[in-house]
Amino acid sequence: MAQGESRRVRKAVFPAAGLGTRFLPATKAQPKEMLPIVDTPCIQFAIEEALASGLDDMLVVTGRGKRAIEDHFDRAPELERAVARSGKDDLLDLVRQTADLVDLHFVRQKEPLGLGHAVLQARRHVGDEPFAVILGDDLIWSERPAIGQLLAVYERYGTPVVAVERVARERTGAYGIVAVAPEPLAPGVWEVEGLVEKPDPEQAPSDLAVVGRYVLVPEVFDLLAAQGPGAKGEIQLTDALEALRRRRRLVAVEFEGVRYDTGDKLGYLKANVDFALRRADLGAEFAAFLRERVAALSPTEGVRA
Ligand code: G1P
Repeated sequence: MAQGESRRVRKAVFPAAGLGTRFLPATKAQPKEMLPIVDTPCIQFAIEEALASGLDDMLVVTGRGKRAIEDHFDRAPELERAVARSGKDDLLDLVRQTADLVDLHFVRQKEPLGLGHAVLQARRHVGDEPFAVILGDDLIWSERPAIGQLLAVYERYGTPVVAVERVARERTGAYGIVAVAPEPLAPGVWEVEGLVEKPDPEQAPSDLAVVGRYVLVPEVFDLLAAQGPGAKGEIQLTDALEALRRRRRLVAVEFEGVRYDTGDKLGYLKANVDFALRRADLGAEFAAFLRERVAALSPTEGVRA
């Protein structure tokens, strides 16, 4: 830990400026962060995870066409009145709760120059404090909130932390990949010896992929500001973290939990199925429906109507 640096993390940054082209046409007129998992927008899970981990100052980095995110976390008087009139108190609670969840701050990324550039937009709000970064596309279901697991490691080692999980070799081109020391510092905690953004499988230093949870230190902002374009011509957070790692220790944590890539169609569908199955109000009936569908599968005909 650099001298005078605090270990108490209060702030969380949520990059949410991406265009969501993988979900067109659904994302033509609404932000991808508002796509629901069953009935809850993806970004709400990320905010709730941060809250459950003790983070209480939240900044969302948005861009054009993202107003619905602000509205979602605001009071909705007309809707509240209409729901109140209908006597559905449980619904009224739901509508109010999202507004009362947290005080959110917003800053705009004016040009889509990459994840690193999006995080750099948080500089003024974050100031001189350590902070968490949560990528809402990576939805994590776990007993202990994922970012909370990283915060515990940050508190213990006093160094920046990234979440990682093992991926199939042929998938390395979709992630930041880390090289780690031969022996872990503790079970599931590794010292990072190198990071590279989206390497081809032949070039990948390992199968440990960065997942969208980070605990960072303000030092990273200078590195981001100096960072030229990297993979895909974008300013990459991974490249600034590699520069940071050359200056000070960076650790990777294999978190406990199941991750869904909701930015990918198949990952999004899997998340919806699993979250529905886990729901007390839907799980049993939905499981019965799925069993029926699977039974109707025939190797030659596929799923029948
Ligand atoms: C971003 C990061 C990448 C990380 C990934 C996790 O990539 O640049 O290092 O592995 O998130 O989801 P993106 O998915 O935005 O292309």
